[in-house]
Amino acid sequence: MYQHEKKPFYITTPIYYPSAKLHIGHAYCTTIADSIARFHRLEGDDVFFLTGSDEHGLKIEQKAEAAGVKPIEYTNKIVAGFQNLWKRLSISNDDFIRTTQERHIRVVQEIFRRIYAKGDIYKGKYTGLYCTPCESYWTEHQLDENGCCPDCHRPVQEVSEEAYFFRMSRYQDRVLQYIEDHPDFIQPVSRRNEMINFIKQGLDDLCISRTSFDWGIPVPTDPKHVIYVWFDALTNYLTPIGYLDDPARFKKYWPADLHLVGKEIVRFHSIIWPCILMALDLPLPKKVYGHGWLIVDGDKMSKSKGNVVDPIGLIDEFGADPIRYFLLREINLGQDGNFSRDALIQRINSDLANDLGNLLHRTLNMTLKFQDGVVEAPQGEGAADASLKQDAADAVEFFAQNMEQMELSKTIKKVWAFISRANKYIDETAPWALAKDPAKKQELANVLYNLLESLRLIAVMISPFMPTTAERIWKQLNLPQDFHSVQLEDIQTWGGTPAGHRVGTPVQLFPRIDIEAENKKYEAKLAAEKKAKAQQEKAAKKAAPEHAAKDGQISFEDFNKIQLRVAKVLQAELVPKTDKLMKLVVDLGDEQRQVVSGIAQNYKPESLIGKNVVMVINLKPAKLRGVVSQGMILAAGKDKDLEVLTVDMPAGTEVH
Ligand code: MSP
Repeated sequence: MYQHEKKPFYITTPIYYPSAKLHIGHAYCTTIADSIARFHRLEGDDVFFLTGSDEHGLKIEQKAEAAGVKPIEYTNKIVAGFQNLWKRLSISNDDFIRTTQERHIRVVQEIFRRIYAKGDIYKGKYTGLYCTPCESYWTEHQLDENGCCPDCHRPVQEVSEEAYFFRMSRYQDRVLQYIEDHPDFIQPVSRRNEMINFIKQGLDDLCISRTSFDWGIPVPTDPKHVIYVWFDALTNYLTPIGYLDDPARFKKYWPADLHLVGKEIVRFHSIIWPCILMALDLPLPKKVYGHGWLIVDGDKMSKSKGNVVDPIGLIDEFGADPIRYFLLREINLGQDGNFSRDALIQRINSDLANDLGNLLHRTLNMTLKFQDGVVEAPQGEGAADASLKQDAADAVEFFAQNMEQMELSKTIKKVWAFISRANKYIDETAPWALAKDPAKKQELANVLYNLLESLRLIAVMISPFMPTTAERIWKQLNLPQDFHSVQLEDIQTWGGTPAGHRVGTPVQLFPRIDIEAENKKYEAKLAAEKKAKAQQEKAAKKAAPEHAAKDGQISFEDFNKIQLRVAKVLQAELVPKTDKLMKLVVDLGDEQRQVVSGIAQNYKPESLIGKNVVMVINLKPAKLRGVVSQGMILAAGKDKDLEVLTVDMPAGTEVH
């Protein structure tokens, strides 16, 4: 029988970027981690399960600016959405780390200091081809056939800046040696081979700071630099387990047992991260597992294809457990897998409503009908009973062994094979016939006991995958043991259902879905969304210049629609609670206007008064941070290098 030594178990998901809404693919990653964490709790391990958000970087800074809010305000809102999603999906994380939290900033800066003091961080100059949306530098030969970013296929720019570098090259041989000596460190094995080949091509030092944007953790000794991307992100794994302030706790959970990540970020976790840890003289994580990607109806999810599946919409429609079940059953962990609504509905109908739902329903109904709902003690056993018990023991053993190996899909299939087996046992033993014969009373009691006991085991075995359903089954069985205290050991022996106790009322677990009706409803919803979108586009087109040309050129008539005028600044003051916005009152010759402009970081309010600036005067009024702006002041440059256009002409002069 499977024996397990209870131990601390530290499992992490990646921390997610708040640059876009999370889709079903992100939910897949977290659901896998959650079911593994739940299994380890069941084994009695002292589990620490971490997820979080990776909030810094240029992309976020730009998005926040476009939304007219501070980056932290922008990420607060999106991260609240992440947390809501994880709650709705029954994710049992023990902590949620945000890279913007003080506790994390302290860790990142301290790590920088320590590695710098050791001589493994140095200042240099970085020149490279940079893709802003992906926050990645690429080498020339990595670009796509159009010379664009190989990931998002947008143009890259050559960027050169002073930067700090982490001396990763120094650790190249040691990492390679480690990977070769620890066959389980990178899984699946295909990823391991990829990583070995990658290292063998040679590791460059890693650029770990930027001066081209501000939204990041400042380099402690040189705050015009911010620490960027992986050096900030990966270190999140050390923060919540007491790296700086609780050595006993840190020792308990570090090294992590499992970093679960998507296949495209295995490299960062199995090469860069080990190098950073080696520089800190810390042990390396026990395992990095790179799972495959979820694709939708055979295609990679992307905003432009319009096939991004919103997990909240799905949860509203079907509930969290069926989605979790589908994701974990349909996809083999290391491979890409397909999501399709139709396949989800089919699984709900066949596996959940039919197989599992019916087993519970029939068993409880028969117990109520034939034994007044009371469980009677079994005595003796026939061939069918013995075979069911053997199959139950096999299923539990398989469950324990395979979950330990992260064989989630295989395990679910085995549990469902046992559910089918139990349904077949009902047909074999025909309890309704036994109930008609008073001489078969004990035989009937045995059959019902075996079914209820099977359901007890099933409830526990499905709990890592479908925690809410497992608890609902437990409640309907009305078992006296607190569901949350149940351990693997409790199902490793047969007979945990006490005799003499009364079962609960059967409630349908999963109503069958009428595929046709459901699809009609769904299509109607899609059609309504499409119509609304088309209307929006039509309205936007109407408002747009009629002669817009393909190549971005505009006609003279279009240009002529923009009314530009010289405006004299009469008053200037900062808009409260923003860094960038300034409220100005200007004289346009024949009227005064209020306008809000993003120039507060470049000018002191008083320095603007009396200046004659150029302004677009027929821009539709807008509210920025609650302040009405009637026009736009023109400026050249951006960020720190920005200057408003001034002219030596009187207020009200037309500009053309
Ligand atoms: N912030 C980094 C990770 C830093 S970890 C120190 C990041 N964030 S992410 O939001 O872009 O992606 C988070 C995870 O979601 C990754 O593991 C990624 O593989 C996973 N997925 C994103 N799309 C996915 C699918 N379509 N399918 C499965 N997982 C996918 O990378």
